[in-house]
Amino acid sequence: MEYAENILGTIGNTPLVKINKLTEEVDALVLAKYETFNPGNSAKDRMAVKMIEDAEAAGLLKPGGTIIEGTSGNTGMGLALAAIVKGYKMVCVMSDKQSKEKMDILKAVGSEVIVCPTDVAPDDPNSYYSTSKRLSEETPNSWYVNQYDNLSNTKAHYESTGPEIWKQTDGRITHFVVGVGTGGTISGVGKYLKEQNPDIKVWGIDTYGSVFKKYHETGIFDEKEIYPYVTEGIGEDILPKNVNFDVIDGFMKVTDKDAAVYTQRLAKEEGMFLGNSAGAAIKGLLQLKEQFKKDDVVVVLFHDHGSRYVGKMFNDEWMRKMGYIE
Ligand SMILES: Cc1ncc(COP(=O)(O)O)c(C=O)c1O
Repeated sequence: MEYAENILGTIGNTPLVKINKLTEEVDALVLAKYETFNPGNSAKDRMAVKMIEDAEAAGLLKPGGTIIEGTSGNTGMGLALAAIVKGYKMVCVMSDKQSKEKMDILKAVGSEVIVCPTDVAPDDPNSYYSTSKRLSEETPNSWYVNQYDNLSNTKAHYESTGPEIWKQTDGRITHFVVGVGTGGTISGVGKYLKEQNPDIKVWGIDTYGSVFKKYHETGIFDEKEIYPYVTEGIGEDILPKNVNFDVIDGFMKVTDKDAAVYTQRLAKEEGMFLGNSAGAAIKGLLQLKEQFKKDDVVVVLFHDHGSRYVGKMFNDEWMRKMGYIE
């Protein structure tokens, strides 16, 4: 018999899938690391379990404890699944710009969900960073995950996602392209791949309204770069410890409109029903097409599933209201 001991045993070993129509103008083989095959439908399952296991080993998370995290939804889902299997209580703190579907999904897997305003500074007491921190101080036997600065996040991708991509491409990968939020995915995969072959180029996809690109290019944390944006899952108004700028060759910014339109195009033209950051990632890759040559193997990682965006990027009324489609 072949079976997993519990749902956590099905995390990882996601497929690599060739992108065909959308990348016709790219003179290289473009492959998608398709992370929605994880049981929580996102790449975040990997780091959620790793962060919990490392916290257990360090004695930070104890039996019967409460896990508290500020999350845009996907990390919360991974943490919630692990909390169920391992017997912890889960509290997710979210910002009000996140899709309602994401909040409902977290409640469906037993999480308590607390919603905070988006348009406040990170150090505002009502921000979702401050609220998660305060709750963890007030709740007995609790552990604040902090996916931004918890380096087990990067380690999960260094230990699993990176080696999978290297093996699946038979070591022929030349470029890795991925959206950057906490930085765990790009830093873990990027470090592993560059250790195997330092010539591999690693590109981060960023949003307008985020600090990453300018900081990478100039070393300046420019507050003028920060303003509210629509794209979900990528870009930041802080510099998380998980972003290792040393393994990143460059950033490409994608507009909210393009990210939304390409989220729809992936579904309609490739049959890839994916989240908003996948739209940003594929559009960013197309903007980078001059970087790729004929024999290159470009891997783009798609983080999460389209079902979380049916009220927004897959809702034509919303798309029209935003001015993204006619
Ligand atoms: C949908 C989505 N895409 C991309 C990312 C970025 O991944 P990372 O946090 O590893 O940089 C996240 C998480 O923050 C996400 O939820």
